[in-house]
Amino acid sequence: MSGPIVLGIESTCDETAASVVQGRTLISNVVASSMDEHARYGGVIPEIASRAHAEAFVPCVSKALADANMTLSDVDAIAVSAGPGLAGCLAVGVSGAKSLAWAANKPIYGINHVIGHIAVTQLQFGPFPEDTLALIVSGGHTSLLHVEDVARHIDVVGTTLDDAAGECFDKVARLLGFPYPGGPHIDRHAQLGDPHAIKVPQGLTQGKAGQQHPYDFSFSGVKTAVARWIEEQQAQGNEIPVDDVCASLADSVATVLAKKAMRGCEQYDSKTLIVGGGFSANSQLRAKLLEVGAEHGVEVRVPQLKLCTDNGAMVAMLGVNLVEAGVAPSNPDFAIDSAMP
Ligand code: KG4
Ligand code: ZN
Repeated sequence: MSGPIVLGIESTCDETAASVVQGRTLISNVVASSMDEHARYGGVIPEIASRAHAEAFVPCVSKALADANMTLSDVDAIAVSAGPGLAGCLAVGVSGAKSLAWAANKPIYGINHVIGHIAVTQLQFGPFPEDTLALIVSGGHTSLLHVEDVARHIDVVGTTLDDAAGECFDKVARLLGFPYPGGPHIDRHAQLGDPHAIKVPQGLTQGKAGQQHPYDFSFSGVKTAVARWIEEQQAQGNEIPVDDVCASLADSVATVLAKKAMRGCEQYDSKTLIVGGGFSANSQLRAKLLEVGAEHGVEVRVPQLKLCTDNGAMVAMLGVNLVEAGVAPSNPDFAIDSAMP
């Protein structure tokens, strides 16, 4: 095994996570989630999540180091998500990471969580080919990115103008009576339904008039259209065909994500598409991307599930990239940025 050893720490939302990565090898990966505590509120409650991070931080980091058979003195650097995310949650992870770096006299990198979702794919698929595109989809973000140099330069090709794809699923799921997070429930029911049963708009297929590039997404109208349709059926006393609603919604969202990702690959002459974020667990999206990828000669790299959802390995992997690229560590007083672009 060779390469820098980095301890990665993640606390942007409801997962407290720590991991040790050396070079391109995942040595340990510990994730504690406070999801169960939020489920009954129908969404993540920032105050509860922050408290959970404060409780889980030391146990998580200790376990990640113990599983790696290491102590803090063995790592070359510490990396921590500095944004985007919930401010209170970020503050816990960043303060903790700074304390560790100070006590052990190690360099620290405050990293962008979304870029971590891209970096982590190296653990499964190896280095990035030139002109890689990345589609990052979760409850908080939907972005199409051009990866020129993961340590130094990433361009935003497209982003959501309103709701993220996962958020849209979670909101419709709520209307259908599924607990939070509803995305996986929609996925399961969609597998039993007819994707063409209900006409669900794809949302911003061409891009807005006057927009510079047609790669942005919009899922708020999709959610509203489905909500209206459900209301109409209820007003008429009709039973809601849950499986068909889920299948039609999933087909619409997967189709537009896949269409724009392929359009981006053509534009950037990219033969590789990286997919990440919690929503990339979605069966309909995975199937659609593999299908259109094969049609367009694009290799679609969707990592295993434990690397898709929020974890410390994504942070550690990006930390390794920064160390390898000779990027200077963050100043000890670096700030969190909950709206980091
Ligand atoms: O990346 P993630 O774990 O957390 C952030 O939002 O950053 O993503 C969680 C999101 C939620 O909206 C959840 O409903 C959605 O991903 N999700 C899914 C599936 N698994 C998770 N959505 C659709 N189908 C799934 N199988
Ligand atoms: Zn994430």
